[in-house]
Amino acid sequence: MEPTLIDKPRALNYYCANASEINSKLKYAKIIGTGSSVPKTVLSNSDLEKMVDTSDEWITSRTGIKERRIADENTAASDVAYKAAEKALKVACVSPQNLDAIIVGTVTPDFVFPSTACVLQSLLGAKKAYAFDLMAGCSGFLYTLHVAEGIIKSGGAEKILVIGVDILSKITDFEDRSTCILFGDGAGAAVLTASDKPGILSSILSSDGDDWDLLYVPAGGSRTPIGEEVLKSRDQYIKMKGNDVFKVAVKSMESATINALNKANVSPEDIDLFVPHQANYRILEAVRKRLNFPEEKVFANLDKYGNTSAASVPLALDEAVNKGRIKEGNLVLFAAFGAGFTWGASVVKL
Ligand code: UT7
Repeated sequence: MEPTLIDKPRALNYYCANASEINSKLKYAKIIGTGSSVPKTVLSNSDLEKMVDTSDEWITSRTGIKERRIADENTAASDVAYKAAEKALKVACVSPQNLDAIIVGTVTPDFVFPSTACVLQSLLGAKKAYAFDLMAGCSGFLYTLHVAEGIIKSGGAEKILVIGVDILSKITDFEDRSTCILFGDGAGAAVLTASDKPGILSSILSSDGDDWDLLYVPAGGSRTPIGEEVLKSRDQYIKMKGNDVFKVAVKSMESATINALNKANVSPEDIDLFVPHQANYRILEAVRKRLNFPEEKVFANLDKYGNTSAASVPLALDEAVNKGRIKEGNLVLFAAFGAGFTWGASVVKL
């Protein structure tokens, strides 16, 4: 079995030497450390064959997913986020006490309220930080990046911890073969600082609320609180019209990436690595072909983790850094698409 991301060597350590130089330069928001964490328990395609009418062959050929990680009953979003955050802070040489803000992108918070960001703040002892959650489905991490960049550039914070975390297994219907084969649990974190060195070069966000019901959880909110009827209809779980979502995802990620490249004034050839949301290998391939990216410039780890929603992009980013696929000075392109619909793309210099 592949080792987990936990305890792998950190390739971004070189930023430590620069940490003191970059205070109070507000021109850019720069990523100075990444971290990630996944639960230990592996749920393989063959495990799923025993649970629903599916096959490893169907899942692999339609999605590219081979296995995913599943949290145990005592593990919530903040627990996994904490492990990812600890690593990112260590790499960035930033102590939790020096954080000005914590932003968590998630659709599976520990509680309806308070925010998972506040629970995480307490776990980290990040006393000085203000903390809030942001909900943008699988685009959650790109939304947190954009918001954090705006706060940093406006002088509202110098150091921000951004997290994408989702424990989708807790809202997945393991009797619904069209969804339960897709999702997994995990967290990815990044520490951003104000810097005079180029960091986030562009970021594009979009939403289209008209299609909210193509991917959603019907119950558990103020429209339909959980009750006996809900439990009978299994409306506390994710419902998705996968095929419709697929088509919009490809078009939206393509247009967002083109807009983000244009806004940053860079061409696809300038990009060292494309780190897209890991929903389905066929979506990645369709977007890659439309953008004319060579295969080796696209990072994929969905075979091991499935679709981890808001965690997917930062989990892939951290793994790419640890594997040496991203080095200091590289240009990285992110793209994501998710419930809402929400989507976006960013060009970032690491
Ligand atoms: O992250 C946020 C955004 N989410 C996404 O981007 C997900 C986008 N959607 C997808 O990835 C794909 O649509 C899925 C992987 C969910 C489904 O793949 P598809 O190629 O779109 O399949 P489909 O829904 O059109 O279903 C094809 C057939 C159906 O059978 P019939 O009606 O042709 O007889 C399904 O019932 O496959 C059947 N099917 C399955 N068969 C075996 C659906 N799920 C399964 C399964 N195992 N797990």
